[in-house]
Amino acid sequence: MKILVTGGAGYIGSHTIIDILEQGIHEVISIDNFSNSDEKVFDRIFEITGQRVKNYNLDLTDYQKLKTEVFEKEGKIDGIIHFAALKAVGESVEKPVHYYYNNLNSMINLLKCTQKFDVNYFIFSSSCTVYGNPENIPVTENSPIGVTESPYGYTKVVGERILEDFATTKSNFKAVALRYFNPVGAHMSGLNGEFPKGRPNNLVPVVTQFASLWLSELTVHGTDYETRDGTAIRDYIHVSDISHAHLLAMEKLASQSDYKSYDIFNLGVGQGVTVFEVINAFEKVSGIKLNYTVGPRRSGDVEAIYANNQKARTELGWNPKYGIEDAMKSAWIWQQKLNAAMHDDKVLLS
Ligand code: UD1
Repeated sequence: MKILVTGGAGYIGSHTIIDILEQGIHEVISIDNFSNSDEKVFDRIFEITGQRVKNYNLDLTDYQKLKTEVFEKEGKIDGIIHFAALKAVGESVEKPVHYYYNNLNSMINLLKCTQKFDVNYFIFSSSCTVYGNPENIPVTENSPIGVTESPYGYTKVVGERILEDFATTKSNFKAVALRYFNPVGAHMSGLNGEFPKGRPNNLVPVVTQFASLWLSELTVHGTDYETRDGTAIRDYIHVSDISHAHLLAMEKLASQSDYKSYDIFNLGVGQGVTVFEVINAFEKVSGIKLNYTVGPRRSGDVEAIYANNQKARTELGWNPKYGIEDAMKSAWIWQQKLNAAMHDDKVLLS
């Protein structure tokens, strides 16, 4: 297959490209405008796989360019894995129209191209944020869609709906939405990982940057939740495990002609981990004690969510390999590589 990955320079997109190239069966091309990433990601992909990926630096909201500069030039594309999107929850609250415009138009333009250029398979990057604050955990794919706290979250809810409506009316087209829980960690080689532009908000990059003295504070947001140690519970899933599920889903759609036109899968380890347990795992693998402070709850945070991942295991044959310690270890090796690059003054990524 020839697979187009949008957001190929991003955190999960780049790991997915690595996974596809390492498998060595399919051809892959990318679209990324580097709005929250860097072109040097493709050097790292080359370092790991020995292969150069063609990337189109293009804004997906520009339908004309997408059509003429990518689809008309590339010839037959079999499948699309669509990651490219704005994803900062807080920013989406401040700039809702920007988020709806970007994330939904990108999706719609890609779907128009699948129609015009006969692309048959589509994988969409969704999120467990669609469950809101769930009443029952673990959540299954049948758990109700909840009240999502942010415009970012609604772009995932609406994106799923657009895709489902499209897939059920277009013949020869199959689509899957993958609902990620909390993607963490780095490629096990330590050569590729997350490098958010600006100050990170997610727990793991905050932890590794705090341990590297890039950040002066690590605040635990809330210790008064009704959980085993008072901190919030999430399902932290290694980025390489998440990435591999995309390849499995794409191959499922391509190989099983009677497969349903639209499906959804949870991608989580299936275990809830508290904030303190993440911190402990980091301390254990790094040998560094974290002098964190305790703060109030962060607005919009849910108390506890983790996945029932049985459907992805059974239907996709997905077996997540890594646990929280592997994730923290790889994230820490990656962070140390960033530290060394900064120290040598040959800035690795930007
Ligand atoms: C967030 C997004 C989610 C997105 C996910 C991955 C929200 C409401 N949800 O999930 O849509 O898919 O990121 O990008 O923002 N924490 C601290 N201190 C910190 C940072 C985080 O205690 O400095 C805690 C949080 O309060 C939370 C847990 O760590 O309990 C995980 O937070 P985070 O990594 O930001 O992910 P989510 O909020 O679960």
